[in-house]
Amino acid sequence: MKQVEVAVIGTGWCGGIRAETLSRSALVDKLHICEIRPERLAEVKALTRPATATLDYQDIINNQSISVVYICTTPEPTHFPIARDCLKGGKQVLLEKPIAMELWEADELITIARRAGLKFTIGYSQRFNPKIAYAKKKITDGTLGRPVSVMVSRNLSRSLGKKIASRVKLSPAAMESTHDLDFVFWLLEPAKPVRVYSQGSYGYMQAVNGSYDVMWTTVTMDNGMLVVIGGGWNLPPSYPNYCATWIEITGTEGALILDDTQRDNWLNTVQEGTRFPMSTMPGEQVDHVFAGQMGPETIHFLESCILDRPVMVAPEHARMVMETYTAADLSAARNEPIDLPLSNAALSAVADMKAASRAD
Ligand SMILES: NC(=O)c1ccc[n+]([C@@H]2O[C@H](COP(=O)([O-])OP(=O)(O)OC[C@H]3O[C@@H](n4cnc5c(N)ncnc54)[C@H](O)[C@@H]3O)[C@@H](O)[C@H]2O)c1
Repeated sequence: MKQVEVAVIGTGWCGGIRAETLSRSALVDKLHICEIRPERLAEVKALTRPATATLDYQDIINNQSISVVYICTTPEPTHFPIARDCLKGGKQVLLEKPIAMELWEADELITIARRAGLKFTIGYSQRFNPKIAYAKKKITDGTLGRPVSVMVSRNLSRSLGKKIASRVKLSPAAMESTHDLDFVFWLLEPAKPVRVYSQGSYGYMQAVNGSYDVMWTTVTMDNGMLVVIGGGWNLPPSYPNYCATWIEITGTEGALILDDTQRDNWLNTVQEGTRFPMSTMPGEQVDHVFAGQMGPETIHFLESCILDRPVMVAPEHARMVMETYTAADLSAARNEPIDLPLSNAALSAVADMKAASRAD
């Protein structure tokens, strides 16, 4: 059996999940981990017993035996330089979303990977949510007829919202609805987004970093289909990093309603009250079983590399998603619809908007 040496760079929450999954896989010859916080490196080292553990990601790049790398670092501006260095070092890369902070950075990563013939994908884990895989199957096999509309409402716990909003100035559209834009555009392929209108509402998070609590974004596709996506991060705590999603898909021959609000497992304790376990976006390891999407997603990428199969999320698709949430941010700031692809005038307005936000 072919085995490979793999590495995880950034072993916080998601990187810890990926490292644990890889440490359990027979496809992994040796696991290597990298984390700049020594105490977290020691924790994940004890959990996964890697061949090496380092504080410097250059050690991963310089190790020629490592062929597959998962990049799970925060803050998000670390994604581009680390992914660029790994791809230039000849590694196959799974990079957590967002693909980059700037569109030109995404383009550069895509070009480096394509020229070198390397697998490069973005961790849009919801593609591995069985409910969403089922929606893809039912649209593809014609059960729903011609799709007419898709609505997704996603709400996260404010503890996670605060963690994200405190480290980087990215909106709920860029950090949360990004998952929904990704899988909805995948469901509706080959349709492409052509117009975006978004509005945001302030609440709890405004005092944390000036961010909206909730954004609702309407996207018109080039064949007229309508996509409406709400993303928020102000729910009171009901499990660390709790996430609830409701999905409505209508078509000419049928409709599919998916309740992914994760309230089907109710843990109630005297000390902590109501909890909905196994309800985070990536999921979690539960003894011998992975409850959620990030475990299967991690192994799928490894198998794509070993068997030379296509990756689940093409980086060009992730770039289209990035362009769409960038348009949503601009639309909310200007109170007007924005056309896609972004025009030069819109790109320059985005640059001004980002500069103003950095100056705040
Ligand atoms: N797919 C999903 O469902 C999902 C869910 C949550 C987060 N995410 C994405 O995953 C990424 C990671 O999120 P998280 O919640 O695990 O973050 P986290 O903050 O818990 O972990 C990130 C880790 O990276 C480490 N790090 C930073 N710079 C580094 C470097 N140069 N070298 C090595 N380690 C470094 C940090 O010390 C930290 O431990 C985010 O960008 C986020 O957008 C995806």
